[in-house]
Parts: sequence; structure tokens; C-alpha cells
Amino acid sequence: MAMKKRVFVFDTTLRDGEQVPGCQLNTVEKIEVAKSLELLGVDIIEAGFPISSPADFNSIVEISKAITEPIICSLSRAVKADIDCAADSLKFAKKKRIHTFISASDIHIKHQFKSTREDILQRAVEAVRLAKRYAEDVEFSAMDAGRADNDYLVRMFEAVIKAGATVINIPDTTGYCLPEEFASKVRYVIENTKGVDRVVVSVHCHNDLGLATANAIAGLQAGARQVECTVNGIGERAGNTSLEETVMILRTRKDIGLDTKINTKQIYQASRLVSRLMRMPVQPNKAIVGKNAFAHSSGIHQHGVLNKRETYEIIDPADVGINSSGILLTARSGRSALRHHLERLGYQLDQDQLDEAYKKFLSLADKKKDVHDDDLLELMGQKIDRKRGIKLELLQVVCGSPVHPMAAVKLRINGKSYSSVGNGNGPVDAAFNAVNDIVKKKVLLEEFLVQAVTRGSDDIGKVHVQISYNDNTYYGYGSDSDIIVASVKAYIDALNKIL
Ligand code: KIV
Ligand code: ZN
Repeated sequence: MAMKKRVFVFDTTLRDGEQVPGCQLNTVEKIEVAKSLELLGVDIIEAGFPISSPADFNSIVEISKAITEPIICSLSRAVKADIDCAADSLKFAKKKRIHTFISASDIHIKHQFKSTREDILQRAVEAVRLAKRYAEDVEFSAMDAGRADNDYLVRMFEAVIKAGATVINIPDTTGYCLPEEFASKVRYVIENTKGVDRVVVSVHCHNDLGLATANAIAGLQAGARQVECTVNGIGERAGNTSLEETVMILRTRKDIGLDTKINTKQIYQASRLVSRLMRMPVQPNKAIVGKNAFAHSSGIHQHGVLNKRETYEIIDPADVGINSSGILLTARSGRSALRHHLERLGYQLDQDQLDEAYKKFLSLADKKKDVHDDDLLELMGQKIDRKRGIKLELLQVVCGSPVHPMAAVKLRINGKSYSSVGNGNGPVDAAFNAVNDIVKKKVLLEEFLVQAVTRGSDDIGKVHVQISYNDNTYYGYGSDSDIIVASVKAYIDALNKIL
């Protein structure tokens, strides 16, 4: 078999991803993400835009100290002060890259820079020359290349390669291109730029039309060898090319002939970490890392997957670090799914017994949205002590401004009552802390989603939580006209699944 060509993964979760409003991280959190990216095996970590704030500068310094393998990259406009600052931020990096950029499209040159193509090209060259005085590895990005004239792009790239650039990046900054069009652009640059064989050609795509990953793949197929991406595809506006999608496309579609050195088994943990720290829930149907990405609920699909996983799964969930079963039990499940779960619980049934159990299961599943292990055990005639587990007996919160939020919680666990009082940065946090104090389990709240059932302030609130415990994920659901009560019910629902 032909050797796969290597694609370098340039992760910009901590720069383009972190530009998303509400996603800002502190230095400690950024180091945690950087370490998880190192475990994942990314080649380059774009750690920030240091001139933008002292905190960003400091994070790059600290990430440089904490990370060994990946190249640490620091972003700068094509401006002396930015480049000096980027160089300074990288002083502790074991391997460093300065990334400098300027716009290449006429619309940007005219309206943003109020300048000319010649002036911009000159600035690009000067920026690369200066960056080169500080770092051997210099990346140059022609911003808005997606809408730029291809001949101008070629001239610009030729000039910056001459000035010492080691990577030339083709960003579709506004997510405007179609895959074939973007591929042609990349091909044109590769075929016409003198010196291109001495540099790595990179692609950087945005998702405004939902094409960021498709465009990046098209660019790689056209000859680019670096892909700029983010975990969960987070980034400005509709986001960037998703790391997990790109990596798994190349791993799954071996016929493309390209591969990365990403340890795919680390994908899910990286996704959860980024989602949790950046407070950015992952949509359930998100490819590769969404809650439903490997969940099968229709009977036909479940039957197929249980006979041979590959019938309806093109990726083994374990390959991306997901170990739990994706066979859900709902009213649409068939006998195969029921047999699978009953066998997991230790029941071996012949056909008649299964038919009998299935009838009971269907009438239960019609009434209940999700069927759990306890329900199945009861269905098989076991006596389930419904008093078992955790129940909320009392919740009282003090919140508002300027009081310090506090919550008093009383829980009944396996028939016995326990109370505690918790503090927190809000009433939900305070209540969860009180619950944690009682149950004494080291759980991590990964996702917290509040929804109103319909519009109106007197409405029922629905809360979904996702927690992790001992590397497993548990989901909980709660509803109530009081949103804090709904939140605690959801949290307890998830905790009960651990127990
Ligand atoms: O989208 C973009 O053009 C960028 C550049 C800084 C590479 O993020
Ligand atoms: Zn970008």
C-alpha cells in the first residue's frame, strides 16, 4: 500500500477559538487545554494573540513553559510592535513559530486598510523579514485569501517566501468559498508560486456556510499539508474547521492518502474539556463528538449494529475515546436491542421469553421516554427498591445582589436523610456544591443546559446536565416551574445513574 502523506495539525482553539464571546479562559485553563492538545498529538498550538492583552501574553509564556512536543505559535499583525511582542511571548518555547498576517482581498485592502495592493505586499514582506530575525519558523497568512485575486495571492506568497516564510497559509476568513473553488485556489497557488516547494502550504477555513471542514479537506486534497482547526470547531461566528472531523475524515477515508499523527483515542476527552472550560455545549448531532454521534435508536439500525457494528457505524466509537454503548432503549427499539441490554444484565433468553419480555418492554417504553437498567430488571421480575438512590427532599436558596449565594439542601439517600449548606457563585452552583458535600463523589459538571418548554416567565424549565465520573459520562434531566429546583433534580438524576 502507498505511504500516506503527512498532514500537520495546527490547532487554534486557544486563539481563533478563544475569540468567541463568552469562551475566554484564564491562564490555568489554557494550560489545561494545551496539555490536552499535546496528549492529542497536535503538531502546532497557536497559543494566542499576545499584543491583544497582557493576559493573553502571559498565557503564551506559561503555555510555552508547560508544553514540550508541539510547536508553540504566537499571532501578530504585520506590525512591528505585534511581532516584537509575539517574539517576546515565545521566549520559553522549546519550539517556536511566529505567525504574521495581513489582508489580501481587495475589499479588505480598500476598506479596512485604505491602502493599495503594492503597499500591503511591502508590509507583508517587512513583517516576515522582522519575524525571521526572532524565529526560524515563520508563518504568513494572507487574510481573506478566499475572496482574493489568485494572481495577487501568488505574488504575495512568492515575496514572503523570498523573505523567509516557512509556512504560507490560505485562509477563507469569511467562509465564502465552495469546496471545488477553494481546492482550485490552493492548486493555483501551489502550481504558480516560485519557491512553494520550500514551504508548507496551509489552509484555514471558517464555517459561515457550514463548509469549513469540507473546504479544508478539499484544500488538503489539492496539495496543502497543514490544516488549521479547532476542537469542536469553535471559533469566530459559525466557527472554524473542526479538528475531530478533519482527523477522522482522513483516518476513515484512507483512499484520500493523507493522515495526521493525532492519537484519536484522546479526541473525546479533548472535546469534553474544551466544551466544559469554554462553556460551549456541543450540539447533540455534532459529527464525531456529539452526544448522538454513535447513538442508535431505530430498531433496524440497532439490529444491524448488533450483528456487525460496521453496518451502520463507519467509525468505531472506541477509536475516538467513547466507550459507552450507543444502543438506546426507546419505543423504537427492536428485540435485538432489548436482548443486548438484557444479556448485559445477565439474562439469557430463548425466543419465547424474549417475545414475552419485548411485549412488556414496548408498553413500558410507550409510557417512558428512556428505559433504564432498573426498569429492565423490574420487567424481568426483580424487585427494585424505588426508595433506593438519591431523592431531593428540600431545597432553599438565598440569592440576588449583593448577597453571597447560598443553598440549603436535604437529600434522602437509600431511605436516610442528609443535609448540607453550600456556597457558590450563583444559586445553582451553591446548590450543586451542597449536593456534592452530601454525596461525596468526585464528579465533574461538563454541561448544563436550561430550556423553557414554551415562552413565558411562569413556564416550566427543563434542565439537562452532563457529568463525568471515573472517565464515564452520565446525563441527567429535570423539570420544574422553579429553574433552580429543575437544575438540582437534573443533577441528582445524573448522580443516580452513577449509583
Ligand atoms: O481567519 C483568518 O483569516 C485568521 C487569520 C489570522 C489566519 O484567523
Ligand atoms: Zn480565522
